[in-house]
Amino acid sequence: MITTFSVATKVVSGLGSLALLPAELAALGARRIAVVVDRGVLDAGLLATVLAPVDPALVAVTVPVDPDPDVAAAERAAAIAREHGCDAVLAVGGGSAQGAAKAVAIRLTNPERIDRYAGVGNVPIPPAPTIAVPTTAGSGSEVSQVLVLHEAGRPEELVVRSPGCEPDTALLDGTVLRGLPRAPMLHAGLDALAHGLETQWARRASAFTRALGLAAARTVLDRLAVAVDGVASGRNAEGGNDEVLQELLDAACAANMACGNTGLTLVHALSTAPSVHLPHGLQNGVLLPHVARFNADLSEPDVAELVAELPALYDALGFAAVFPSGSVGPAEVDAMVTASTGHPFRLNNGRASTDDELRELLAGAVV
Ligand SMILES: [Fe+2]
Repeated sequence: MITTFSVATKVVSGLGSLALLPAELAALGARRIAVVVDRGVLDAGLLATVLAPVDPALVAVTVPVDPDPDVAAAERAAAIAREHGCDAVLAVGGGSAQGAAKAVAIRLTNPERIDRYAGVGNVPIPPAPTIAVPTTAGSGSEVSQVLVLHEAGRPEELVVRSPGCEPDTALLDGTVLRGLPRAPMLHAGLDALAHGLETQWARRASAFTRALGLAAARTVLDRLAVAVDGVASGRNAEGGNDEVLQELLDAACAANMACGNTGLTLVHALSTAPSVHLPHGLQNGVLLPHVARFNADLSEPDVAELVAELPALYDALGFAAVFPSGSVGPAEVDAMVTASTGHPFRLNNGRASTDDELRELLAGAVV
């Protein structure tokens, strides 16, 4: 099979790399910046830390974003950025803020409402220059050309994907994860683990994506429990786990470099139903061992070795591969199977699946 591999985003990574933010903004010619930030990050005071090295005169407006933004939320954020005459975007947060920031960057240069650009390759004009500072080690959205919006009433998420929609620069500094609470640390890590392993089962996998995805999954398996324990013990906050946090941030980014090129598979195909109101990483963490079992015959020995370590990791994390009690019933199972129908991630899974097989798979995740 002929495959292609590309990562267009410049990745600046390392403890203390936040100090380079002003130089990276200047390199993009940013003069009036819209800072699109997770509301939680803003409330926790982390934005002030991220912006500390930046000349305040360059920040035209700060736009807080709530989790899982819809079209209206993205459009509101974009309107604010336009009203302030912004010419560049700084995204600070996890996957939700990164996605909203991409929508803002697209809408600073493109005239139509963001959902008009849904699908692949439909954004006509390159977005405004963007720098992404991820504050969770999970989505890897900082190197992805995909933005996902959660539109109520649709059977699946709204996806905009175009070459050029990836941030120009990703700045990965593990110190920004010091204050991350337990749930986002845990859920984001499981999302990254799913990205790394799903690339191994993708029909479009290549030598490049296998290497990146495998290394990323290895790091999450080795380091996530240390980082999650470090929340309660205070070790993260004290800076004692900085290197672990940096490794996880790098791994999440690498996992997205892999899955951005292969596409995802069954785990993410089943976690796209907007009517299932569970955090993205939690859903994927629950689904991952079940999909790994379904895909056992696809797994190369080095992948099977990692999969065999999942139970020990989940024990260490105190995480069960079942949906929280009462959160997923027959209606949600139907919604998950419906959302996966015809979904490119389901079709990209190396083993084809029938709806009955998926229902059986999901039954194992429902208490
Ligand atoms: Fe994901």
